[in-house]
Amino acid sequence: MNRKKVIIDCDPGIDDSLAIMLALASPELDVCGITVTAGNAPLQMGIGNAGKVLDFCGRTDIPVYAGADAPLEKEYVNALDTHGADGLGESFLPVPETFAPQSLPAEEFLAQTLKKGDVSVIALGPLTNLAKLIRRDPAAFAGIDTLVSMGGNFRSHGNCSPVAEYNYWEDPDAAALVYDTLGAQGGKITMVGLDVTRRIVLTPTMLSYIMRLDPKTGEFIRKITKFYMDFHWQWEHIIGCVINDPLAVAAFLEPDLVSGFDAYTAIQTDGIARGMSVADAMRFYRRPANARVCTDVDVRRFWHLFLFRILHMPDEQLDLIDPILSGEVQP
Ligand code: BDR
Ligand code: CA
Repeated sequence: MNRKKVIIDCDPGIDDSLAIMLALASPELDVCGITVTAGNAPLQMGIGNAGKVLDFCGRTDIPVYAGADAPLEKEYVNALDTHGADGLGESFLPVPETFAPQSLPAEEFLAQTLKKGDVSVIALGPLTNLAKLIRRDPAAFAGIDTLVSMGGNFRSHGNCSPVAEYNYWEDPDAAALVYDTLGAQGGKITMVGLDVTRRIVLTPTMLSYIMRLDPKTGEFIRKITKFYMDFHWQWEHIIGCVINDPLAVAAFLEPDLVSGFDAYTAIQTDGIARGMSVADAMRFYRRPANARVCTDVDVRRFWHLFLFRILHMPDEQLDLIDPILSGEVQP
């Protein structure tokens, strides 16, 4: 199989971890490296969490690179209120003793690897590492094959301000630079924003199902999502938790899993709309599209893909989840 080379740029993070698990369980992908940025968790904590997930997946051979420890211009604000004191749902799993990040900085790794061509990036956190790459080596950035970013929102409300999604709010200057640069280079970012990720809710029923089918994986997911589920109940009165980042991996694997429209999109850097993604759906600005804005997702297909991959389920068992998805569980 001709595997697609991909770099996962992330801030693990509970849902980042689930996304890494999905990527590593996908035979079409050759994960060349994981670059970490400060985001949900401070940089060193995020690096350790990447090590924990790789260890769980038995893939400590995948190199992890340390990236930015703060946004380009703004003050760093972590999201440990959402992801727990350890950034991994207060699971307090140990960082594997043998794990260490590479000495090469993420920016350098990105520059060297992307220059070779044919490598894609799935960005699951603030876009600081990519913005720093642009400042240092725009030609390497232009070498990205496909860029998928979990971030932004179109019609859906924000999750850290009325109008902004966390990743773009955290480092709006980086997000703006990435969108503007890609536009100028004639490229398009796939914006997997809250309109679609909010529809991916890991419910307790789904988790029980996962635990029955694969107790080891289920227990790992239970440990890292419990805090997140409590958070969702407290703040949004949702039973379960929204797992944003795995959808970005799924959209990379199967682009028609999501749909939307192409539009010129600009990220607001300051003021009350900080981090807001303004997608010009009606073409007011007459500017070429720099984004594919996702507005719809086939939720059932996502779960089939996710479960099939992380639980190594045979196809015929996948129909078992349909009653759970529709809420019509019958004896
Ligand atoms: C994004 O912010 C983080 O909390 C998640 O990991 C995801 O990448 C959702 O807004
Ligand atoms: Ca993330």
